[in-house]
Amino acid sequence: MLIKNLFPRLDTQAAKELDEFGRVLRKAAPLKGKHFEVLHKNVRALSDSLTSDREGLRKDYMTDARFLGAYLYYFLPWNLYRLSRLFTGIEPYVNNGGVIIDLGSGPLTVPLALWISMPKMRERTLTFICVDRASKVMSEGRRLFDTLTGGTSKWRIVTVKGSLGMQLREKADLVVAANTLNELNWTGRDSEQMQGKVAHSLAKYLKKDGRLLLVEPGLRQAGRNLAVMRAELMDLGLMPLAPCPHDGYCPMHGQGTDARWCHFNFGVEGAPRWLTDLTHRARLTKSGLSLSFVYLTTAEVSYVGSVRAVSEVFKIPQGRGQYACSSRGLTLLEYPQRGPALFPGQSLPPEWPEQSRTDLKSGAVILPVTAKLTKGK
Ligand SMILES: C[S@@+](CC[C@H](N)C(=O)[O-])C[C@H]1O[C@@H](n2cnc3c(N)ncnc32)[C@H](O)[C@@H]1O
Repeated sequence: MLIKNLFPRLDTQAAKELDEFGRVLRKAAPLKGKHFEVLHKNVRALSDSLTSDREGLRKDYMTDARFLGAYLYYFLPWNLYRLSRLFTGIEPYVNNGGVIIDLGSGPLTVPLALWISMPKMRERTLTFICVDRASKVMSEGRRLFDTLTGGTSKWRIVTVKGSLGMQLREKADLVVAANTLNELNWTGRDSEQMQGKVAHSLAKYLKKDGRLLLVEPGLRQAGRNLAVMRAELMDLGLMPLAPCPHDGYCPMHGQGTDARWCHFNFGVEGAPRWLTDLTHRARLTKSGLSLSFVYLTTAEVSYVGSVRAVSEVFKIPQGRGQYACSSRGLTLLEYPQRGPALFPGQSLPPEWPEQSRTDLKSGAVILPVTAKLTKGK
């Protein structure tokens, strides 16, 4: 299986459900008058803490009423939007009777996003094992899930207060950790050992032919960590399904000062108006979103040699360029001055030139894109 378009726009139904999630929030997690009035300020404060002041962020920030409200009304819906676009692209289906483990589940963001973006899964009997060190936020999530689904869902949701790495009785068809790995402390002398340990713990949760999805913010440090995790997990026998179109060395690993890191930017088309309004009131601009992720499997994967566009398009002397990834390593797509180009995350089957050329600035192998790009590729 190779994934062509990683972040398709939400369809009308999913966009509508995300819009209605505002009503779900007000019903299942109403904010007291005072908290509602200062919501935008709390969003701003939590955003500063999560991005630039992580050191000062208390471990139990999810249990602080101000931050919990800000998380539920702002970070949760934006994560639902981000994950819904990713899920629409990678389609992480789980069969009837399957088990999904969600690590660092918070307000059950992953089950909520799967419900919103993958309606075909709704009729399946699934078990979700949601693990978080803060139980209160998972209880809020359960109320949100019951309100969203009308309380009649076939999905069984088990919440477990505990830490990533804890023993779980069941193994999973799909393990997800979304916006969680960046909460672990990766610094210090034992960091390499710790990366290996985390990879082992994650792999242990998987059934035979199980899949593992790690999603992180599109920041350099997160991209770096994911590249390391990818390598560690591949040493344990897993193979990447996406975004990597190959199982070789990651050429966008983010190490060193100039190294590019693998992350994807995309727009906010179809995001709910109430959410963009709140974003504006919190003086946070969101003209685009960004994430890094890696999706791996313990099954065999056959790669067809495609090339995945990663960066946005930029000007180069010959026309326009775009960094991409292929089995030949870092790749520079070279487009003419005008005409269509790939969106970050889209892939194409390459027509490699007979004579290979290398970009002097980046060391990337150059792939001229002359073929007509058709929609949907
Ligand atoms: C940023 S939130 C992400 C929540 C949710 N996955 C999402 O994408 O919206 C990170 C969550 O991970 C939890 N967490 C952090 N470190 C953890 C650990 N070592 N074990 C379990 N949960 C952890 C936090 O309590 C928090 O709920």
